[in-house]
Amino acid sequence: MVVTTRTRSPIRSNVGLKALMAVTGIILVLFLILHMLGNLKVFTGETSFDHYAHWLRDIGKPLLPGVWYLWIQRGVLTVAVIGHIVAATVLARRARAARPVPYAHCAKVQGSYAARTMRWGGVIILLFVIYHLLDLTSGNLNPVGDPRRPYANVVADFAPERWYVTLFYTLAIVAIGFHLRHGAFSAFRSLGQQTPKGERRARAAALVFAVALCAGFLVVPFAVLTGLVA
Ligand code: HEM
Repeated sequence: MVVTTRTRSPIRSNVGLKALMAVTGIILVLFLILHMLGNLKVFTGETSFDHYAHWLRDIGKPLLPGVWYLWIQRGVLTVAVIGHIVAATVLARRARAARPVPYAHCAKVQGSYAARTMRWGGVIILLFVIYHLLDLTSGNLNPVGDPRRPYANVVADFAPERWYVTLFYTLAIVAIGFHLRHGAFSAFRSLGQQTPKGERRARAAALVFAVALCAGFLVVPFAVLTGLVA
């Protein structure tokens, strides 16, 4: 019998790719938590929110000149998104290649559920981020579109007559919620006890985390839609 051993560099091994998914996922989740908490400052009024948004551009000064910090953050987030997608794609391909015949029973349900929500969820999130940057960062797709007035941009964005924007944000944020619930469940399960009870706990913790993050994001467009923030 001839045994062929192909050595992969550690990062390209399954464990390496899973570690890459975890590290990039953690970076993205940390950004989401901070971004969601920052958005809640919209409830403190226009001056305070605009001041906060301008401060975001000044982080790192005077150690870093200009808007360096912002660009470093953008670079890290872009690399994290690309790393996350590449690792997920390679791992999914390898899993499919290792099991060309689909499972007959329940494993198929589990597999296709995760695959469907993660893959399509990932695509929706990517499209949303592109729209969101053109909307609230560059202002091209925003009725006000003034980068110096983020509060006015947000209020104009989710005005009642633009309900479809709130609907799109809601769909994307719910997709993010599903994505996060799956990712957080995998992370909590790996960290916790590998028992049915540990798994139930991991599932519950992931659900609570995903719902809290979604609610924190969604409260802003719905506050504008209902006139609470104007
Ligand atoms: C209702 C929910 C959200 C609101 C109201 C919101 C609001 C904003 C605002 C006002 C900015 C511009 C900040 C500034 O440049 O002054 C911004 C930037 C950004 N948002 Fe959101 N956001 C929401 C959800 C999200 C989600 C779910 C993601 C990620 C999936 C996201 C990712 C980003 C990114 C990457 C930037 C660009 C930061 C930069 O300038 O580099 N946002 N958001």
